[in-house]
Amino acid sequence: MLKYNFAILLFLLLLNNVKLWKTCDDTFCGKVRKSPEGYPRYVLDFASLDFNGNTLTGNLTKNGDLYFELWYTGVGTFNFYIRNRSKKPRQRPTLLNKRKKSEIRLVNQAADYYIFRHGNAKSFIYDDPFKVENYLDDKLVYIINKNDRLVLQANSSGDAVALDVFFPGATQAYGIPQRADNLPLRTTTAASDSDPYRLFNVNTGQYKVKSREALHSSVPVLFAHSQNQTAGIFWIGRAQTWVDISHYSNGINVFFMSENYDIGTAFFNGPTMEEVVKQNTYNHVEYPPPYFAFGYHQSRNSYLNENEVLDVVKQFDANNLPLESVWLDSSYTESKKYFTWDPIRFPNPIRLQNQLAIQNRSLVITIGPHIKTEEGYFVHDEATAKRFYIQNPDGSDYVWKCPAGHCSYLDHLNTNASKFYSSLFEMDTFKAENLHVFLDFNEPTVFENEDHENTLPPELIHRADKLSYRHREVHNAYNDDQTLSTLIGLVGEDVYNTRLETNDSNVYNTRRPFLTTRSHFRFYANGAAVFTGDNYASWDHLQISFPMCLSEALVGAQFCGANVGGSAGIPDDQLYQRWYQAAAWLPFYRGHFDADVPRREPYTYPENIQARVQKVLNQRYAHLPVWYTLYWESILTKASIIRPLFYQYPNEEATFKIDQQLLVGASILAAPIMKPNVIMTSIYLPGGESEIWYNIDDNYKALRGTGHKPLYVNMDSVPVFYRGGSIIARKDTPRLTAEATVNDPYTLYICLDINDMAEGTLYVDDYKTFLYLDRKFLYLRFIFEDNSLSSFKIIEDADYDGAAPITELVVINPPKDVIKVHLYGKSLSKQNPSITYSEDEN
Ligand SMILES: *[C@@H]1O[C@H](CO)[C@@H](O)[C@H](O)[C@H]1NC(C)=O
Ligand SMILES: *[C@@H]1O[C@H](CO)[C@@H](O)[C@H](O)[C@H]1NC(C)=O
Ligand SMILES: *[C@@H]1O[C@H](CO)[C@@H](O)[C@H](O)[C@H]1NC(C)=O
Ligand SMILES: *[C@@H]1O[C@H](CO)[C@@H](O)[C@H](O)[C@H]1NC(C)=O
Ligand SMILES: *[C@@H]1O[C@H](CO)[C@@H](O)[C@H](O)[C@H]1NC(C)=O
Ligand SMILES: *[C@@H]1O[C@H](CO)[C@@H](O)[C@H](O)[C@H]1NC(C)=O
Ligand SMILES: *[C@@H]1O[C@H](CO)[C@@H](O)[C@H](O)[C@H]1NC(C)=O
Repeated sequence: MLKYNFAILLFLLLLNNVKLWKTCDDTFCGKVRKSPEGYPRYVLDFASLDFNGNTLTGNLTKNGDLYFELWYTGVGTFNFYIRNRSKKPRQRPTLLNKRKKSEIRLVNQAADYYIFRHGNAKSFIYDDPFKVENYLDDKLVYIINKNDRLVLQANSSGDAVALDVFFPGATQAYGIPQRADNLPLRTTTAASDSDPYRLFNVNTGQYKVKSREALHSSVPVLFAHSQNQTAGIFWIGRAQTWVDISHYSNGINVFFMSENYDIGTAFFNGPTMEEVVKQNTYNHVEYPPPYFAFGYHQSRNSYLNENEVLDVVKQFDANNLPLESVWLDSSYTESKKYFTWDPIRFPNPIRLQNQLAIQNRSLVITIGPHIKTEEGYFVHDEATAKRFYIQNPDGSDYVWKCPAGHCSYLDHLNTNASKFYSSLFEMDTFKAENLHVFLDFNEPTVFENEDHENTLPPELIHRADKLSYRHREVHNAYNDDQTLSTLIGLVGEDVYNTRLETNDSNVYNTRRPFLTTRSHFRFYANGAAVFTGDNYASWDHLQISFPMCLSEALVGAQFCGANVGGSAGIPDDQLYQRWYQAAAWLPFYRGHFDADVPRREPYTYPENIQARVQKVLNQRYAHLPVWYTLYWESILTKASIIRPLFYQYPNEEATFKIDQQLLVGASILAAPIMKPNVIMTSIYLPGGESEIWYNIDDNYKALRGTGHKPLYVNMDSVPVFYRGGSIIARKDTPRLTAEATVNDPYTLYICLDINDMAEGTLYVDDYKTFLYLDRKFLYLRFIFEDNSLSSFKIIEDADYDGAAPITELVVINPPKDVIKVHLYGKSLSKQNPSITYSEDEN
């Protein structure tokens, strides 16, 4: 063992010495970053302004080859493109752009500017230098090309575009995940620590924390925030992108650079954090994951055979630890060929899946984009014959080394290739109801290809349906295309196409998939779980999981978690327990560890440790109704599920940098211990004197939201608070699966505010199918007021008769005499609930 660890250490040291990841200067960024030095300037010819009621265009060069185009989609979103007339537009219309354009009016013109208005939004267009100022309610929100650093270059020395945007008054910038850094973005232009943030998907195992380096995923969405104003930008490019950020006393400047030849952007006018988040995710395609997806999952690289899988389930059961699924890495396959099963280790995958189904458990298998190039392997034969692989510039299929020997990569930009891939999930052994998919290596990873940062070479060709693309133009979004074809494969194209609205009962009965992806872009296939990549068993990796998932939540990737315990390395007992406690408050909850470390399922630990893990697992399961309701509400309203404190308290400057605490919805504040040997901690409670926070870890003791509070803790402590004014629906009976809780009764925790009022919501459906599209669901609001509780349906015409009853009410910090309780009768209260009062002794 010792020897083995030494080998790993040596390997890590070697890795650190190899310069694998490119710096700005190693790429197009080095030159573009110097703009305006070395680039022509652009002047708008006012005479060329063309305005048709909702779209404004104008030439930026004398010969008219460069032009801009802008329009509003509602007051909140401003779309801005710059294109080369002699080239096909590259920045693919996004879902965002399918929104109807709003009418704009020319309201004024002067010698050096024109003013256009839409509702309470207004754009000033300047000619020399070309510049756009956008106002909301007569307040300047951002300035496009303020520093006149616009770059558009398309010639033999390479494509490059860049644009600067100034957010006046902003004090913080957030977003552009994925990276292992604190939530607020830093200035990148300081002389010392100098590279910009990079958006370029790479497979960085055991990444460094507090680092701006690129990771598995890239989402080019950024928000600028101050007490009184929040705005944002979606930089639509799918190519490698670098982002410089400069904080000034009067605002924040952002400089986006991409290896493209045109520019596509959507700006979000806010004015609040909550609004910009919604403006960004307005058209995200979503479905609620099945209920069990919010339970606990166990993964390892890898469980090697049927018996190991069944044994894991048996051990969880025997130790009274809840579990939903067991995960397999690619070694379940025959010789690493995806869509096959190893005949010796997994001789009967259907039987295995059925065995798990009886126990309400499921199997999650890994699929990668790299296909073994072995003649006679049906996937490879078909992909070769039909030209479904990504190609070399000379038209041959790209082939490279991989763990299977040699591999090629399916081209998910090609519809026929995607259809073929989707069809693979129709095979008997891959379509069982409780088989789920984890998409790994979809940055995409290319093994042992250091010259190209272990991913696909930029010059490879994607033959999409009409256009073809160089890989570098689409690199960051290959993952989303693959996720989408997987989703279609899992539910069928009909279901996929009608999943938002349908009358088709075949759709209703289809099971919702539970999909996980390691790499993602802007998340067209929302609903898939994401995680913080191949992390390490260290305290700083635990700590960074909160800001990483909060950042994802802000840009619309709601279902985020971190590998509990760290994939690599060996956590000590304290770290292990603290990690389970903290991770229970992130949306996606999965324990995972690599092949070369000792087993670490909770049942492998001594009783006292197991008991603590069991306690937090039970607490997680008690809150499943909360997670499920929040997810559904995030689809309905686009609100984030987990939120940084400033999202809910935007005027409270002290919250702006807090990322070791988070809010689950608006009602639960989680501040788990993520440092070693803590006996006293300090927790920030927001909201001021009038906000009450009840410590669920300490008998619901009431504290006021007036800032930092000291708190004594021990190994059992997980500081979590319910906000006064909220009603939390829980299921407190400990169970081994989410499925087993379905008929358990609810307990409502009624947490009174300073006016003795509270309210909350609960969403219930059948937890597994698309039946909710047939309005078979209950969406309820509970209100406690004047000493009485009532409930009503928020969506009147929807109903579901399978909901469990509410049998218990716990009134926290109760007024002297509660007089009556009235619940919406038919569905949720088959009997009179009992009432408990939790007095605050202080
Ligand atoms: C703008 O450029 C286009 C393309 O070259 C040209 O057809 C058009 O006349 C130009 N507009 C003006 C007013 O110069
Ligand atoms: C490419 O375009 C840039 C700016 O548009 C220009 O400075 C450069 O000279 C051009 N290079 C070539 C080889 O034409
Ligand atoms: C626009 O594209 C054409 C064709 O590729 C190219 O010759 C021209 O230089 C481009 N214009 C600019 C300003 O990049
Ligand atoms: C925000 O608005 C309030 C009230 O209008 C004002 O007092 C405060 O100075 C503003 N803060 C910033 C950072 O502009
Ligand atoms: C599986 O779930 C059902 C409820 O759908 C429950 O009746 C049954 O006891 C569960 N079985 C196990 C082994 O948990
Ligand atoms: C896809 O397949 C159809 C027929 O199966 C064919 O007509 C079409 O050309 C193919 N498209 C591409 C991009 O290869
Ligand atoms: C579903 O049926 C209703 C009434 O029969 C109809 O008004 C509605 O358009 C249908 N919706 C779809 C998506 O077919």
